[in-house]
Amino acid sequence: MTIIIKVDSENPSIEKIRRAAEIIRKGGTVAFPTETVYGLGADALNPEAVRKIYEAKERPPTNPLIIHIAEKKEVYRLAEEIPEKAFELMDRFWPGPLTLVLRASEIVPKITTAGLETTAIRMPSHRVALALIRESSRPIAAPSANLAGRPSPTTAEHVIEDLYGRIDAILDGGPTPVGVESTVLDMTTEPPRILRPGGVPREDLEEVLGRVEVKQTYRRYKLRMEVILVEGEPKSVIRKVRELAGLYLSRGRRVGILTIDEHKPMYETYRTMHRCEVKSLGSRKDPAVIARNLFGLLREFEGMGVDLVLAEGFKVEGLGLTIMNRLRRASGLNIVKA
Ligand code: TXA
Ligand code: MG
Repeated sequence: MTIIIKVDSENPSIEKIRRAAEIIRKGGTVAFPTETVYGLGADALNPEAVRKIYEAKERPPTNPLIIHIAEKKEVYRLAEEIPEKAFELMDRFWPGPLTLVLRASEIVPKITTAGLETTAIRMPSHRVALALIRESSRPIAAPSANLAGRPSPTTAEHVIEDLYGRIDAILDGGPTPVGVESTVLDMTTEPPRILRPGGVPREDLEEVLGRVEVKQTYRRYKLRMEVILVEGEPKSVIRKVRELAGLYLSRGRRVGILTIDEHKPMYETYRTMHRCEVKSLGSRKDPAVIARNLFGLLREFEGMGVDLVLAEGFKVEGLGLTIMNRLRRASGLNIVKA
């Protein structure tokens, strides 16, 4: 069964961390908070332990894992032929939500890299994550702690929803502060490529690297509802969302509207209607808050039995690129241009 260990995110008790670290050392699986999302961790250098991650998540064996470290010098053990620019990125963004894809060293098991010659490495900034890695005295492989294809968990409750009974333990350190996953940057290509936009915006990377390419994929999330993404100028978006809400409500659907603080009053008439739920991600002025709330609100809509979400689009700059990547994935590219 799964043990749940509550910890203080600022000041985690060392006894509790040691209990979890002992599970990692013995080849078990522990879900833990990072600053981005919860990860499902196991000893990255123990193939049998890593196999349990794939099994618990029902993750395809072709999808490689990120290795989490607590000291920068660990990259020398795990990676080879590290470009000079990668060290500049580590100095500026680690610990933090940036994952670097580098050439893997011999010691990284094939199951951790899904057979690739490269490996993804990051140093998280969350105290619980750092303490767990240090006390385990092993690099920890950790994908997001959700069932394969589901949105990443930003609370221990989300982890319980997807993985309870499938993993050995959950360190519950409360909600994760960034709320979207790390930016995955391939440093083995020239120019470097963003494979997944995330917590560190492209523009910040370009300050260090010059031009960076973006190569996104939009694998659709498994959600128990449909999501339609409405893109365009704010005024036309509001008009279109209202129109679609009216249409689908009249067809008897349970509709959710995913909006921002500034627009919420425009949906007041819908909010008071049966079978319609309106939720705000936060203020347009604070994209970090919008990013933090996104996965949680998608799961909330699901929990309320909403079967169609109308989501407003965002400008694809700064964290907006990350937010739109996740919304496009949620919608399965079901996009309406307003
Ligand atoms: O914020 C995060 O990155 C979280 C926390 C737990 O650290 N982790 C996370 O892991 O989101 P996961 O497995 O859900 O997503 C990692 C992504 C996957 O899309 C995977 O394909 C990619 O990174 N990846 C891992 N190793 C790679 C490699 N060697 N080359 C290319 N992509 C890689
Ligand atoms: Mg994931």
